[in-house]
Amino acid sequence: MQEHPHGHVENTAELEAFYRDLDSMSTTALWLLLADQMPETPKPKAVPFLWKYSRIRPQLFRAGELVRPEQANRRVIVLVNPGLKEQASATRNLNANVQMVLPGEIAPAHRHVASALRFIIEGGGAYTAVDGEKTLMYPGDLVMTPNWSWHDHGNETDGPMIWQDGLDMPMVNALDAPFFEAYTGMQQGYTRPVDASAREYGRGGLKPTWEKWDKPYSPMLNYSWDQTRETLHRLAKDSPGTPHDGVSLEYVNPQTGGPIMPTIGANIQLLRPGEHTQAHRHTMDVVYQAVEGSGCTIVNGIRFNWEKNDIFVIPKWCLHEHANASKTADACLFSYNDAPAMRALALYREEGLVDNDGYQEVNSVFQPL
Ligand SMILES: [Fe+2]
Ligand SMILES: [Fe+2]
Repeated sequence: MQEHPHGHVENTAELEAFYRDLDSMSTTALWLLLADQMPETPKPKAVPFLWKYSRIRPQLFRAGELVRPEQANRRVIVLVNPGLKEQASATRNLNANVQMVLPGEIAPAHRHVASALRFIIEGGGAYTAVDGEKTLMYPGDLVMTPNWSWHDHGNETDGPMIWQDGLDMPMVNALDAPFFEAYTGMQQGYTRPVDASAREYGRGGLKPTWEKWDKPYSPMLNYSWDQTRETLHRLAKDSPGTPHDGVSLEYVNPQTGGPIMPTIGANIQLLRPGEHTQAHRHTMDVVYQAVEGSGCTIVNGIRFNWEKNDIFVIPKWCLHEHANASKTADACLFSYNDAPAMRALALYREEGLVDNDGYQEVNSVFQPL
C-alpha cells in the first residue's frame, strides 16, 4: 500500500506563500484537504453513545414544572452526541429526543419538512393527530408524523405521556431545505375517524381498493405494539432470523412494501434468551431503544449495557453486535435509521466481521452519564 494514499506535498516557503495568496482570493489547494475530505472509509464525528432512561426521566418531570408546551412549543429533551455538540443531535443525520405531555396539555399543531416518528415509552391513551386523523398512543406503538404533515399532540388522560421522537432534521438542515409552519390555533380539525388508517391498512396483505394514496410515505399513522409484538414473537418461534440482528422485522409502507418514510426506516428485533449476534457494520446511523429485557451491544470494542427504555446510537461504519443478557427471557430492540436516504443516494454499504468468527474483542465498558 502507498504510504500516502492521497499523495504528499512537502512544504516549502514558496508553497506557504502560494497558499496565502490562494486564501486571500477565497480559494485553497485540494491536496491540503483530500485526506480529511475523502477518507478511505467513513470517519463519523458522532461517537457510539448511550443515555439511561432512568437519568432522563426525572429531568423530563423537572421540565414539566418549568415549561408548558404552549410556551415552549414542545417539551422535549434533546439527546446530544458528544461528538456533535455544534449540531446538537444524536447522530449525524438523526435527532433522538424525549418528549412529555402532561394531563390536560396540548402540544400545538404545526408542520415541517423534517419527518418524524414517535416510539411510545410511558402512559396510555394520549393522542397524536396527523392531517385530520387522530390516534391514541400506548407503549411500544410507532406513530408517524411525516414530511409536511400537520400534527399536534394532546393528553386527555390523567397520567403523563412520554415518548421518543426520531427526526431527520439534521439531514434536512445539512441539505439547506428546512421549512416550518405553525397552525392557526392549537389543534387541527379532524376529518377522519380515530385510527382510521389502522382499520384501512393495519392487517398485512389487505388494503382498501378505493383508497388513492400518492404521498411518498406510509399511510399508516400508528403501528400498534400489540400487533408488532405478536408478529415478532410468533416468527421467533420458528425462524432463525439473521446472524447480525436476530429476528428482525422492518416496519413497511403497505402500499409499496418499502420503508415507512423516504428518509427514515424503522425496525423491531428480538434476541432469544442467550442469543449473541455476529458483528457487522453499515453506512447508516442507527438509534436504538430497548423495549423488552436487557442485554448489551458491543460497538467498536466498547460494551454498552442496556435495559428497558435506554436509548443508544451506532454511528456509520462502527462494528456492532448485540447480546441478550438473559438465559430465560427474550429481549427486544426498536431502532430507526437513515438507510432509505442512504440507499436512494447509492451510498449504502454493509459488511460482516470475518475475523474471530464474527465477534469483537471487548476492550472497555461504557459508563453512562
Ligand atoms: Fe413537530
Ligand atoms: Fe446493524
